[in-house]
Amino acid sequence: MLIALLVACAGAVSAHHMEKESIQKRTKPSGEVYRVGDDVPVSKPPVVETSGPRSGEEVYTAKCAMCHGAGIAGAPKVGEASAWTDRIAQGNDILFEHAIKGYQGSAGFMPAKGGCADCSDEEVIAAVEHMLEMLK
Ligand code: HEC
Repeated sequence: MLIALLVACAGAVSAHHMEKESIQKRTKPSGEVYRVGDDVPVSKPPVVETSGPRSGEEVYTAKCAMCHGAGIAGAPKVGEASAWTDRIAQGNDILFEHAIKGYQGSAGFMPAKGGCADCSDEEVIAAVEHMLEMLK
């Protein structure tokens, strides 16, 4: 009887000990501690592409062709000169402004910069110029 009690006790104690150890393991800080002179790994800054502004053709192909290539959602097709006569008559400044700021026309909705959040105004203008060039 006494032995049984001792064994039970020992079991309880060791179970308790195990638990404590696993709690320590689970709650240990995730970072490592570095001392002076250690080779500390420093995260490198992300590599930023500095290739300069994209050409009108690049921007058009990547950001505008999906709508203007096939005439999706009322977008004037680039291959269809008649869809552009009235638009060109407005003057380039209006075309550029509509392309940069977006607008709701009678044919459909042109999103600002064609939805290209990382396009600069200059890149959008270059894309419009490329579109106009393709109409010639
Ligand atoms: C989601 C489809 C869509 C995308 C992407 C898109 N456009 Fe458009 N765009 C339209 C629609 C629709 C119109 C016509 C709106 C109207 O006149 O009713 C339009 C019209 C235009 C016009 C004529 C503006 C005018 O005043 O008549 C220009 C210029 C233009 N888009 C340039 C661009 C350029 C540049 C890009 C890429 C940077 C682009 N679009 C991307 C849908 C799109």
